[in-house]
Parts: sequence; C-alpha cells; structure tokens
Amino acid sequence: MTTASDRPIPRVRPGSPPGAPPPELPPEEVAAWQARGGELIELLTRAAELGPLAAFTLGSRRTVLVTGPEQVQHVLAQHPQGYVKQSHRAGLLLGEGVIAASGERWKQQRRLLQSQFTSVGLRRWEQRITEAAARTERRWAECARTGEPTDVGADLQFFALDSIWRTLTGDPLDDATHRALDAMHEVAVHLSALTATAPADQEAVTAALARIDAVCARAIADARERAEGGDGLLRVFLEAARTGPRYTDRLIRDELVNLLVAGHETTAKTLSWLFLRLARHPDVRERVLDVCRDGSPERRREVVTALVNETMRLHPAVWLIPRHAAADDTIGGFRIEAGAHVLSSPYLTHRDPELWPGPEVFDPWRFIEPGRRPGQLGAFYPFGLGARACLGQQFAYREMLCVLELLLPAYDLDFQELPHSTFFGVVLHPVGPLRATVRRSRGSGAA
Ligand code: HEM
Repeated sequence: MTTASDRPIPRVRPGSPPGAPPPELPPEEVAAWQARGGELIELLTRAAELGPLAAFTLGSRRTVLVTGPEQVQHVLAQHPQGYVKQSHRAGLLLGEGVIAASGERWKQQRRLLQSQFTSVGLRRWEQRITEAAARTERRWAECARTGEPTDVGADLQFFALDSIWRTLTGDPLDDATHRALDAMHEVAVHLSALTATAPADQEAVTAALARIDAVCARAIADARERAEGGDGLLRVFLEAARTGPRYTDRLIRDELVNLLVAGHETTAKTLSWLFLRLARHPDVRERVLDVCRDGSPERRREVVTALVNETMRLHPAVWLIPRHAAADDTIGGFRIEAGAHVLSSPYLTHRDPELWPGPEVFDPWRFIEPGRRPGQLGAFYPFGLGARACLGQQFAYREMLCVLELLLPAYDLDFQELPHSTFFGVVLHPVGPLRATVRRSRGSGAA
C-alpha cells in the first residue's frame, strides 16, 4: 500500500544526442528503493522527473517510463504493432477474452463487441443503466429515511456491477450472484501474490475461479433457454456461436468475465473518488450543485462531464498501462530496445505541471473554459489511446452521468472519515471505507 501526496511532478528535459538511451535512474537509487521496500509509484515519480521518457533496470528487466504526451501517443496509438500487450497472471481469470487476446483473434473479438458500445449500439443498454441507477437512488432514499450510515464505495461498486450485469444478461443483479462475483476480487488479490510455492493461494484461486465459472455457465444456459438468447448482450455471443466455431462456451465465459472485470471496478472507483473530492472541496460542490439544480439539461451534462473528467485526471482508475517493446525503436530520438517493458502512466502525465498548471488543484472548470486544457491527445488519456483504448468508454460516461445526475442534486453525504491515501493496485482506489450518512438535500423536492 502506498500513500502519495498530491504533489506536482517536476520535469527536467535534457537535450540528448539522437539514438541515445533515455535518461536513466542510477542503479544505486533503484537498489536503495528496493532495499527499503518502496512502492512502484515512488520509483516512477522519481523517473518521471528525468523527462518524458526515462529508463531504469529492475532485476534484469529494462523498463522505460513514458509520460510525455507525444511519447504516449507514439507507444499507444501510432505504433501498436511495436508495443504489445503481454500475457500475465491475470490470464487465469481473463482467459482469451478481449482484454488479453492479441493478433487476429483480438481483432475479431473486438469487432464483435465494438458495435455494441458505439453511441448507437449503446441505446439498447441505456434502460439497464437507468434501472441500476434508480436502484441505487432507492437505497440512498432508504438510508436518508432511516439515518442508517452506508458504505458509499460499496453502493457505487454495486451500481457499476448491476449496470454491466443487466447489460450482459438482461436481469438485475441478485444477492447470490453478487456474492459469487466477489470471487473476482479474491482472484485479483491472490494473483498479485501468487507464486508456485504458495499452494494455499493456489487453492483459494482455484475455488474462486470455480465460483466465477459457475455463475457464467448459469448465465449462458439461462440466455440459451430464452427466445433468441434473451435481451442482454450475451445474445450477441450466442449468435456468433451459431454462425462460427470460435465462440465456444469457454470463450463466451471469458468475454463475460472480461467485461465484468473491466467494466465495474474502474467506474465504481472513479465515482468513489468523485464523491470524495466533492467532500473535500465544498466550494466546487456548491458550484456544481447550483448547475445540477437550476441549469439547463445541456449545461448540467457539460458540468457533470467536466467533474468526471477532472476526477479521472487526478485519479485515473487505470493509472499504469504496460506494454512490451516487440522490436527496436526510437522515440523522440531516444533508443528503445526490443524486449523493454514500456509503461505509460496516465496518473503521472495528468499531474505534469507543464501540461496542467496547478495540477494538484481540483478544478473541473479547466475542462470547460476555453484554452485551459492541453490540446494533445496524450495529455489526458484515462481510457488509454489507439486501437486498444477502452471499449467501454462511452458506456462508462453514460453510467457515471446517469447516476450522478440522479444522486448529486438529491442527497448530501456526511462522511465519517475521509481517506487520505491511495492504493496503487491494478485499479487506483482510496484506502479505507467511505462510510457516510445520507441526507436529502434542501431543495431536492422530496420529503
Ligand atoms: C471509468 C471507467 C473506465 C476506465 C478509466 C477504463 C480504462 C481503460 C483503459 C485505460 C483501457 C486500456 C488498457 C490498455 O491499453 O492496456 C481499457 C480497456 C478496456 N476497457 Fe475500460 N475503462 C473503464 C470502463 C470500462 C467499461 C464500463 C467497460 C465495459 C463495459 C470497459 C471495457 C474495457 C475493455 C473490454 C478493454 C480492453 C479493450 C481491448 O484491449 O481491446 N471499460 N479501459
């Protein structure tokens, strides 16, 4: 676990001869960091001080950190063949789903899903998101009535999982399925610590995977029993299975798990950060609420979108995007060797004071007022960039705007305690529960 202050990231951009290796953190500094059991974000923050590209060697692994917008675009958007995803332990959970797949198989899988996540395709799923948001609203209404405190983080997590589950299956998320799907978190926790010599972990992972597989098998069987495969996204996979041999039940299970994994914790943690930020910045909250209560629908959408964006600038759920350099390359004159581990970090780029003046200030209006945000694509990329950018970006905005437009003007939260540190796991999240008492807002129109 790491705590990170909101300090800006200073930059030095050394001029170097073409073909030179990127500026490098001294090996003794890396060794000292290792010896004291430092956290990765500390090492990366130090490396980012060396410039938009910086290198260090960890064990025998050459690592290049990419934080400059042009360099990020080079790696993620312009040269996808040169910087590839590598399989890792999460493969046990994700199988051959779209997140982990590569080459022709990935292209085919992505193409099938893509049409479901465009703004036209999304219209089919909008009602599911609205129903999940209404369910969360009912829960908060009940908490406001009884005065019983709630775990805001858990409520938002449930909302995000309910939205994607309804989209996939057509059904609301029930308690048993919710509990079974908790196994996804168990696997994620164990996987990071899993070694060949940890049989206890292996057993726990095997048991958790079996629970996940059982939920997916049931969902697939239910969809098959319904006319035309039911009215969830699952029917798209069942149709693909009818017309070609690739979509076996195993691959359909993998795609289900991929969408569940990619599509709920990211959104849930972003929403948690957003409520936390509003609690820390009452001035911003008041300004936003004025618009939510009295602004036109267009203005409301503009301001809430800016609020989401500013939250993702400071707390991008996917804070680190790893790639493997498949061949020798040069970026901005610096040599990148084949085999290097290449890390792009939205977290560090989004806090670069040269791109984002006063980076530590939480100011959604920088996304609205002309000329206040940098124009380069690679300066703001919470959803990644290029061919492998987030498939669910529009879905995520739809979910977040839907639930926020419902909850923000209607409820005030009194947090018992505000977490002050950050866990830099696969997904960035605040450390500690977000327990709060929920109150109906004055002027929300409800008793
Ligand atoms: C705030 C919410 C979200 C954030 C910040 C986020 C972020 C990202 C990022 C950065 C990537 C690219 C990773 C890489 O290049 O290696 C990604 C990929 C992906 N995301 Fe999201 N995501 C979010 C929500 C969602 C949702 C709601 C879904 C599904 C409904 C989803 C599905 C996916 C999938 C399937 C991929 C893999 C795409 C591929 O490799 O072709 N994400 N996401």
